Amino acid sequence: MAEELNISTSASKKERYTQLIPQISALIEGESSLIANLANVAAALRQTFGFFWVGFYLVDENELVLGPFQGDIACTRIGFGKGVCGTSWKEKKTIIVPNVDEFPGHIACSSASRSEIVIPIISEKEVVAVLDVDSHILNDFDDHDRIGLEKIATLITPCFK
Ligand code: SME
Repeated sequence: MAEELNISTSASKKERYTQLIPQISALIEGESSLIANLANVAAALRQTFGFFWVGFYLVDENELVLGPFQGDIACTRIGFGKGVCGTSWKEKKTIIVPNVDEFPGHIACSSASRSEIVIPIISEKEVVAVLDVDSHILNDFDDHDRIGLEKIATLITPCFK
């Protein structure tokens, strides 16, 4: 795999996901290190979309613990059902938050974050991690992000086995 992403900067968001997904697949193919793969996926997403913060929280017993990410320093531990990440874990579903100030219990790692999407990574029916993406723009995430990021979550699920 060439260690360079090839994404058309003029492409729409939907088209950029279409271009990115096979490149993520190639990037993680044949690499057995979970940490290396999560780190590269976080970097690829930030590089492609310029998101404010992209990263993974990994399930560790009854908490999520900060994993590979791109962006500013962030809170390291999140309880089950807490914040957007813990809620996505508890409900086993993607959560889009158009305005973080309106999400009860939102955990503000940075005051610059205005909207957020969290995707659970589910292996053998259990959440093993969540992918968290933050934007400094209000209402920045839509169904194209949900569909694209859920596909990426599916691609990386086997890395957890
Ligand atoms: N906002 C998240 C916490 C993690 S940071 O955004 C990186 C939440 O409410 O779970």
